[in-house]
Amino acid sequence: MRSSVKHFLDLNRFDTPTLRHILDLGAAFKRGEGDCAAVTGKMLAMIFEKPSTRTRVSFEAGMKQMGGDVIMLAAGDTQLGRGETIADTARVLSRFVDAIMIRTDAQAKLTELAEHASVPVINGLTDESHPCQVMADILTFEEHRGPLAGKVVAWVGDGNNVAASWLHAAGHFGCEIRLACPQSLMPSKAAVEWAKAKGATVVLTTDPAEAATGAQLVMTDTWVSMGCRDKNRHEILSPYQVNDALMAKAAADALFMHCLPAHRGEEVTDSVMDGAQSVVWDEAENRMHVQKGILAWCLS
Ligand code: CP
Ligand code: NVA
Repeated sequence: MRSSVKHFLDLNRFDTPTLRHILDLGAAFKRGEGDCAAVTGKMLAMIFEKPSTRTRVSFEAGMKQMGGDVIMLAAGDTQLGRGETIADTARVLSRFVDAIMIRTDAQAKLTELAEHASVPVINGLTDESHPCQVMADILTFEEHRGPLAGKVVAWVGDGNNVAASWLHAAGHFGCEIRLACPQSLMPSKAAVEWAKAKGATVVLTTDPAEAATGAQLVMTDTWVSMGCRDKNRHEILSPYQVNDALMAKAAADALFMHCLPAHRGEEVTDSVMDGAQSVVWDEAENRMHVQKGILAWCLS
């Protein structure tokens, strides 16, 4: 990987001051005070090997608002879908565009793309992580409740890609993170160990109430992530629904977040999604603002 190229691959690859800087850039863009110069006139290619609404639209709207543009590449419509290698695709796209965003399954595809691209590569979700999402989540929490440091964050349900990026966030920003997951769906051991090594308090439990009690932020996500082969998880995950009874155990001023799309009536009830503690629409909006910060950092 060319060390001078500024990729945005995973939160655990950054030092905390750089992430802080990117978050501050995102907040400045949201206030209308961001500096678009690094992005104006630039072209972002977006490779999607999985569906997307927020990631696609937030990157496209963000690039266009900053005076740049995007090229959308559905993998099935490109030669990637016919076996051209990731490495060769990286080399070719680097001759046409200024940055590449990819949403894919295996983390190895992301790192291979970055290895062979001479332009910045941004992780738009893999099976293992979703760093752009968690940057938006951090920005959203800070807007409503101030710094994460010393706060208790509860993750309830599948210990998936978003949970792993939240473990990285806990390592960087000093919150306690409690993950309540069925034993078979506990989060990535590597992410847990990384967060602990950074000094975060990490609690793993199978009891949603233990995670939620006194928490300042309660989060969940779909029970069946994209590309997940096991579609029969509803029985083991039904005790992990975020509903009014679970939210009542959290701090009185607790926020509720969900990366979306939500499966109402499964991992979360309508009453929580649409309730006074939910900040899910701010969270979705902040994808665009924080990604402007990411793009400005990658391209500067
Ligand atoms: N949260 C998120 O990444 O949404 P999309 O799958 O719609 O991009
Ligand atoms: N965990 C979900 C997140 C979707 C944005 C998935 O990977 O499908």
